[in-house]
Order: sequence, then C-alpha cells, then structure tokens
Amino acid sequence: MAFIVEKDSGLIPQVLAAILDECVNGVTLADPDLEGVPIIYANKAFERLTGYTQADIIGHNCRFLQGDDREQPERYQIAEAIKNHETIEVTLRNYKKDGTLFYNHLKIVPLFDKKQRVIYYLGVQYDITKQVNADNQIQTLTNLLNAVSSK
Ligand SMILES: Cc1cc2nc3c(=O)[nH]c(=O)nc-3n(C[C@H](O)[C@H](O)[C@H](O)COP(=O)(O)O)c2cc1C
Repeated sequence: MAFIVEKDSGLIPQVLAAILDECVNGVTLADPDLEGVPIIYANKAFERLTGYTQADIIGHNCRFLQGDDREQPERYQIAEAIKNHETIEVTLRNYKKDGTLFYNHLKIVPLFDKKQRVIYYLGVQYDITKQVNADNQIQTLTNLLNAVSSK
C-alpha cells in the first residue's frame, strides 16, 4: 500500500529556516539593491558565533565584525570580488559583541536571477580560531625544537 503524506508547501521555508538554524556555519544574506548592502537574513549559528542578536545584525553591513581592525588585505579582496560579482573565500580577524577576537573563515557567493543580475550575496561564516591557534602553537614549538637541536 502506498503511503503518501500530503505536505503543505508553505512549510518548506519554515523547514529550511530550521535546518539553517541548526547548522554550525553562520549563514547570511545581503541585499545589493539596498543602500550599504545590509544583511537581511542571519541564521541562529551566526548569532551564536558573533554574540550579536538579530536586532543588532539585520539592516547593517557585516563589516561591523571587523571593529577597528580594518586594515586587512582580505577586506580589499572581498570588496574587489563583490564589485566583479565573483565568489570569494578568505579568513579574517573578526570580533564578537564582547570584543573577543575570532578567526572567521568566510565564503561569499553572488546569487543570480535568470537575467544574470545579482539578487543576493550569500555569506557562510565558520569559526576556525582553534585551528589557527593550534597551527601557531605547532609553529612556535617547531621553532623551539629546531633552535634546541641545532645547538
Ligand atoms: C553576505 C555577506 C556576508 C559578509 N560577512 C562578513 C563577515 O562575517 N565578516 C566580515 O568581516 N565581513 C563580512 N562581509 C564583508 C563586508 O560586508 C564588506 O563587504 C567588506 O568589509 C569589504 O567592504 P569594505 O572595504 O567597504 O568594508 C560580508 C559581506 C557579505 C556580502
């Protein structure tokens, strides 16, 4: 016997929102048709990652996460990629609401409509702070070991 469950298609956006909220990655959408390319959607993981609430985030350009630490080459790479409607993947120093530094591995993808116009930019954020700190520690210990063994 066929078992068919009819589902309300209106539930799909709700189901997708729940899936995105349970992701470990921050997921954001920015609207290039609005002044300053502000964030118009951020999932729960983005709130957990940054410590900022929906009210802090929506309507603002994501650059606020850089705080005063704006002179990062990756920032210019992002600006260039956005200007050219290209995908970009970089790691940036960002700051949570309480001021804590974290390393944000960020991918930005332009989303096009059928006429090849950019309708949104999709941002995916991933906190790689532990990895960066572990790499730095390995480097420090390797240097120490080399210095000791070359004596
Ligand atoms: C969808 C989207 C998400 C972004 N997420 C971040 C982010 O998490 N952290 C960050 O530092 N910049 C993020 N940016 C980049 C900044 O918004 C901005 O484009 C970048 O700082 C370069 O522009 P500017 O030199 O005018 O600041 C994001 C951009 C877009 C379009």
